[in-house]
Amino acid sequence: MKPIQVTVSKGDETKFQGDVAVVFVYQNKNKKIILPEIGKTYLKTVAKLGDFEGKSGQAHLVYAQEHRELKKYGVSRICFVGGGDKDGKESTVQLAEKYRDLGGKVAQKAKGVKAESIAVFADTIDETEKELAVQTLAEGIIMGSYRFDKYKKPDAEKVEKELQKLKFYGQDHFAQIKNGVTKGENSAVSVMDARDMANEPGNLWTPEQFAQYAVDVAAETGIECTVFDKKKLQSMKMGGILAVNAGSQDPPKMIVLDYKPAKYTQTIMFVGKGLTFDSGGVSLKPAAGMQDMKYDMCGGAAVLASMRAIAKEKPAVRVVGIVPSTDNMMSGTATKPGDIITHYNGLTSEVINTDAEGRLILADALAYGNKHYEPDCIIDLATLTGAVIVALGHHNTGLFSNNDKLAEMLYQSGETCGEPMWRLPLSKDYAKQLESDVADVKNVGGREGGSITAACYLEKFIEDTPWAHLDIAGTAWDFTKKSYIPKGPSGNSVRTLIEFVRNWKKTKF
Ligand code: BES
Ligand code: MN
Ligand code: ZN
Repeated sequence: MKPIQVTVSKGDETKFQGDVAVVFVYQNKNKKIILPEIGKTYLKTVAKLGDFEGKSGQAHLVYAQEHRELKKYGVSRICFVGGGDKDGKESTVQLAEKYRDLGGKVAQKAKGVKAESIAVFADTIDETEKELAVQTLAEGIIMGSYRFDKYKKPDAEKVEKELQKLKFYGQDHFAQIKNGVTKGENSAVSVMDARDMANEPGNLWTPEQFAQYAVDVAAETGIECTVFDKKKLQSMKMGGILAVNAGSQDPPKMIVLDYKPAKYTQTIMFVGKGLTFDSGGVSLKPAAGMQDMKYDMCGGAAVLASMRAIAKEKPAVRVVGIVPSTDNMMSGTATKPGDIITHYNGLTSEVINTDAEGRLILADALAYGNKHYEPDCIIDLATLTGAVIVALGHHNTGLFSNNDKLAEMLYQSGETCGEPMWRLPLSKDYAKQLESDVADVKNVGGREGGSITAACYLEKFIEDTPWAHLDIAGTAWDFTKKSYIPKGPSGNSVRTLIEFVRNWKKTKF
């Protein structure tokens, strides 16, 4: 879909001539509707019938020109949304999720009437944390409007309309509204980017397209982009990336985006698995469901997409994003079970199963990033194991870390964003499962604790740097059903990474 044009205005909201206006309605302590100025008489009847009472999460659409008291508004429809108990004691996390959910619901209503323009009457938002409410509402509306139909023939009869304009009207707390909208838009646009990349099929989204996205982000924001091609990866002895790519027709890339402020003292590093299609290689996957393995690049997508928002927001910390990218195919030249490969840092892996390929490419990227940038902390993201879906389902990302403080910071960022994580252990006992007779490590440690041994494998490539690993295999697609999360790719973790950087203060781990 085309980017949504988002604006903020101090102007007269009655002059808005578009498709849908959003008005917030709350409840008093006794769970009774507090009738707003806009639509007072109408809502009194509706509330009496019990159809809309301002309950949190409710959304109700009316045709403004059909009601005398609403005629003075130029808009065609008004969407009343319920903010729930006005004086209720919500945590920040609950407030954020409430407005995201409402945003998603507004988007669904707007889709239902093929709305091209939405106005939010932000003065009707009654919250002390107004900036956060506006931010998460904007996030919800934009994320909820997502669609991916570029490969479908446009239907000439029912011309498909989509949301093009989103306007926030506000007289009070204008600065807060503006900040909220900017943050919400930045995050949501990155989420849309990540979903788009994931929806692209393996034949059309190759390492080349990944690199092009990063080049475009660099051109747009002025940050630095480096793309290592196959030759360069060979000369750097990136044995993991090259081994996974050995059966492929498309050359691998390693992509680096570097946001480096003029003055900084610390560096955060993100590393994302950019596996554009995972057939399993010689250890071939079963045919059923294999098409989903085009999503195996969601970690890489999250890194590059979040770098776009971060570069726009210009934090005081340096942020480096690295994405090793290739597909995993089989052919006469493909890596075979039993092969021994040498990584960037000199460690050797015995490849027991060519389908445990994500860790092989991450190993090189982690070792390179750790050595070259000496980051204060590293966060890697990967659709790494099916085992994490068995353990946590589609509702929590698996979190692994060698540092409690980093784990806690990241966990909190996830909570704030409605992208929950659950921490799983790491220990020498699990790492023992990876001992090889012929190499420094083998790439699989058996079925037991499969997500944990995968994390233990990665840990061998970061030395003692504070590091956290997010296994997003269960949450990057088919994430928990929500009004602003579509089926398929969710864009999970993009907002968590952006939030993590927004909250960053000089940290001693
Ligand atoms: N990309 C997969 C993990 C995956 C599986 C993600 C299902 C989403 C859904 C990864 O490369 C993989 O194949 N992992 C293997 C590891 C095994 C061979 C040790 C797995 O999980 O089966
Ligand atoms: Mn695999
Ligand atoms: Zn994979």
